[in-house]
Amino acid sequence: MVEFTLPKNSKPQKGKMHTCTEKPGNTKVFQIYRYEPESEENPRLDRFEVDLDQCGPMVLDALIKIKNEIDSSLTFRRSCREGICGSCAMNIDGTNTLACLKPIDEVKGDVKIYPLPHMKVIKDLVPDMNVFYAQLKSVKPWLQTKTAHSPDKERLQSPEEREQLDGLYECILCACCSTSCPSYWWNGDKYLGPAILLQAYRWIIDSRDEITQERLDELEDDFKLYRCHTIMNCTKTCPKGLNPAKAISKIKNMMVSRI
Ligand code: SF4
Ligand code: SF4
Ligand code: FES
Repeated sequence: MVEFTLPKNSKPQKGKMHTCTEKPGNTKVFQIYRYEPESEENPRLDRFEVDLDQCGPMVLDALIKIKNEIDSSLTFRRSCREGICGSCAMNIDGTNTLACLKPIDEVKGDVKIYPLPHMKVIKDLVPDMNVFYAQLKSVKPWLQTKTAHSPDKERLQSPEEREQLDGLYECILCACCSTSCPSYWWNGDKYLGPAILLQAYRWIIDSRDEITQERLDELEDDFKLYRCHTIMNCTKTCPKGLNPAKAISKIKNMMVSRI
């Protein structure tokens, strides 16, 4: 049997407890992963008691309240606060999701918050997305054409062709799916993962794009595409209700049908 030894500083320790001073009736404890790789210290789980009567309804509201009122060093990404930018992706109550779309009252007991799993941590809840973005760039996520076309004219699609992009264009690249995928955990440097493959398919299926075969050639690789074993964690976790596993299977079908 294989035995793994975790690096010494990977084990989270018990951290500080911040209690509400006024003792209101409606409180909730948020257990939050804290880590600063440059320090010599292990990660820790800090606990913050929050007065829910003085807090917005979403987990991101509580994080902002904690940062503003209790511990300004708490670090996390956020921008739009409405599920559009994808920056507040994290693991809440055991599931990868967007903090701005996750209602606090959906969580029973303490709210446990960790960074997206199996990513290098820059600080606290902020993962290093560099590999993910390099993988996105590798699939050339933009329209590519070969035929001459007047710049004054739009490249048109029929309603049916446009419909092919539904369920794909809505992806906000939050990486919740890729970081819930066991294949991506173990081979994230070579397997592109569900988010990037969904993006790849979005351009493969675009009727205006003219390098479909080249795009498929690029993906014809034991690791880039075929590490997907249809475990479906990706589709289960997507906070936008998309189906990356279906997009991957469509690419695989296209590979087979062109042989
Ligand atoms: S498919 Fe869903 S979970 Fe994956 S990156 Fe796009 S929006 Fe996020
Ligand atoms: S279906 Fe494929 S991409 Fe999705 S979680 Fe499973 S292995 Fe990963
Ligand atoms: S803050 Fe933009 S998706 Fe949550």
